[in-house]
Amino acid sequence: MTAEHTEVQVRPARPEDRDAVMRLVSRLSGGVAEWRDPEAVVEAARQWLAGYFVPERKQPGAVFVAVAAGQARDGEGSDREGSGGEVVGVVSVNTHRHFTGPMEAYVGELAVASHAVRMGLGRRLLSAAEDWARGQGVRHLTLETAAGNTAARRFYTAMGYGEEAIRFTRVLD
Ligand SMILES: CC(C)(COP(=O)(O)OP(=O)(O)OC[C@H]1O[C@@H](n2cnc3c(N)ncnc32)[C@H](O)[C@@H]1OP(=O)(O)O)[C@@H](O)C(=O)NCCC(=O)NCCS
Repeated sequence: MTAEHTEVQVRPARPEDRDAVMRLVSRLSGGVAEWRDPEAVVEAARQWLAGYFVPERKQPGAVFVAVAAGQARDGEGSDREGSGGEVVGVVSVNTHRHFTGPMEAYVGELAVASHAVRMGLGRRLLSAAEDWARGQGVRHLTLETAAGNTAARRFYTAMGYGEEAIRFTRVLD
């Protein structure tokens, strides 16, 4: 981001953020296993996130966006936003029941525009999701990422998350 983008607000997503959020989802194909279709991964994430923007569906959970003030730019992973800012990051968070019984929160999607990484926005978005999770009264916040997504694994480790499970897959002949 350029100097005019230094002010970034993290706030709940609004209906007008939808298109910009959908564009950011393309960032979620990183590190996908070679036996999976990265486009299908992105499309699934797009569908999940789209559900939050359908008011009549009243989907539980929350979506937060990072919006940079200043001159908006067009292009990959970003978009103009109604009030003049640029949506440069998104996180979705919801609750589900862990198989051991308790309800817990999980982060479904987290993405920062490629031109806005390493500026602390991932940390701020995750922090918003954590605050929301605390408000739900749950004890744990979990998330999954592709084993090959080295950047995300380093990021989550730096944010204090511990690796809990590893899923093995064999491609059958
Ligand atoms: C993972 C992601 C959300 C991180 O967002 P970000 O805004 O760049 O992260 P931050 O700037 O808040 O980074 C906080 C700390 O995490 C660590 N970190 C972040 N990205 C890292 C990377 N690529 N490699 C190593 N460590 C990294 C660092 O310790 C960093 O602190 P520092 O910059 O002072 O060294 C971002 O890279 C992204 O959107 N990736 C594509 C989508 C994705 O993979 N999402 C997660 C899977 S669901």
